[in-house]
Amino acid sequence: MVAGHTYILGINAYDHDVSACLLRDGEIICAIEKERITRKKHDTGFYQEVVDYCLETAGINLAEVLQVVRNCYILPVHDMEERLMHQYMPHYLDGPEREKAGQSPLFLSKADNVVSTSHHHTHAYSAFTACPFEEGAIMIVDGVGSYPSDVVPQYIPPGDSGNPLARESESYYTFSGAQLTPTKKVWLEPARGFLSDEF
Ligand SMILES: [Fe+2]
Repeated sequence: MVAGHTYILGINAYDHDVSACLLRDGEIICAIEKERITRKKHDTGFYQEVVDYCLETAGINLAEVLQVVRNCYILPVHDMEERLMHQYMPHYLDGPEREKAGQSPLFLSKADNVVSTSHHHTHAYSAFTACPFEEGAIMIVDGVGSYPSDVVPQYIPPGDSGNPLARESESYYTFSGAQLTPTKKVWLEPARGFLSDEF
């Protein structure tokens, strides 16, 4: 917390439309997609530019952010970063960005205030926290989201015991105030591997 303000930084990492959003005391003060900086449509990869842009706009540094919340639909961000250390996937982290990432305190961070959220949970929050209603229903129809093991159990509907290698495809919730309740999930079966034709 800085001068009485609470800052929360949200990051969408690695795959399409890498972006960041900075909240000050619960209000969005800056949000930007990487493509606006790099001029590459739907730009992927590391998130240095968008984080720097948000922090510079607010006139703060990373140490002044109370909480960093990161999302990536492929794997939780920390797991994705470990994978990227061992497997060269230039779509997600090319050579120059790998160097940049290695110097960032967020890359492979184990700090308590740097967390990952599962993918459809993140979609749900982006919808209902910004809507003007106190209660309602949420329908997420996505291509692909998290594996079951990467979803907090309380956000999987009771009795849903799907294939551990399936991915989120559709998710349904109800919300009341800040309370989110899962009602149904449709899983994308791992028939032909990652991003198969069912996508
Ligand atoms: Fe999505």
